[in-house]
Amino acid sequence: MRIDKMLANLGFGSRKEVKQLLKSGAVKINDGVIKDAKQHVDTDNDIVTLNGEVIEYRQYIYLMMNKPPGVISATEDTRDETVIDLLEMNDAVYEPFPVGRLDKDTEGLLLLTNDGQLAHQLLSPKKHVPKMYYAVIDGVVTEEDVEAFKKGVTLDDGYFTKPGELSILKSGIRSEIELTITEGKFHQVKRMFQAVGKRVVYLKRMTMGPLKLDEELELGEYRELTEDEIEQLITFKPE
Ligand code: URA
Repeated sequence: MRIDKMLANLGFGSRKEVKQLLKSGAVKINDGVIKDAKQHVDTDNDIVTLNGEVIEYRQYIYLMMNKPPGVISATEDTRDETVIDLLEMNDAVYEPFPVGRLDKDTEGLLLLTNDGQLAHQLLSPKKHVPKMYYAVIDGVVTEEDVEAFKKGVTLDDGYFTKPGELSILKSGIRSEIELTITEGKFHQVKRMFQAVGKRVVYLKRMTMGPLKLDEELELGEYRELTEDEIEQLITFKPE
């Protein structure tokens, strides 16, 4: 890849600005000052520095966030803060986007990447990628609800859902549950409970396919996926 393209891709300015940067002598490849914008860089093996600081280049970025409530899972929004606003500049330059949406008030596992192919794979309705949610429900969740979800329930727009696996952690006037679903319809968990006459008052996504929320992450924090996690995601085949 050309050095000017690499630097521009990483957010160091437009091609024109990058040209100026190169002219100033601030950029080195393997200790040699590079002023020619057309100079080729081997992004796997060459060491590029800008004012002595090593610049890391890679094509893809994979981040796991513990999404806080009050933040929109979109790349931009005119009114509200987005999950992208929570990223540090040196991660945001890779232009990751959220893989699927969590509601503004939902917390938990959100994958952000710029790997469009992986995102497509995980979101494709044909792939049935399971997602597990923890929820607090206003109402007594019963074995009848477990059975109803096992068969599928009819949502407010007439859509009949695929089976959901509901486990009751605590039953009471405020129940705690875990629900695994393989679809991602708008407000799906909330609407599934609405279908059985109950209301979700707290919702947190715990897993997506093989990926589990790292409980060490505070709300709003994120980290890069490990090599293992990336491998598991890429090779994931739902049953
Ligand atoms: N189901 C919902 O109702 N909301 C979410 O954010 C995710 C799943």
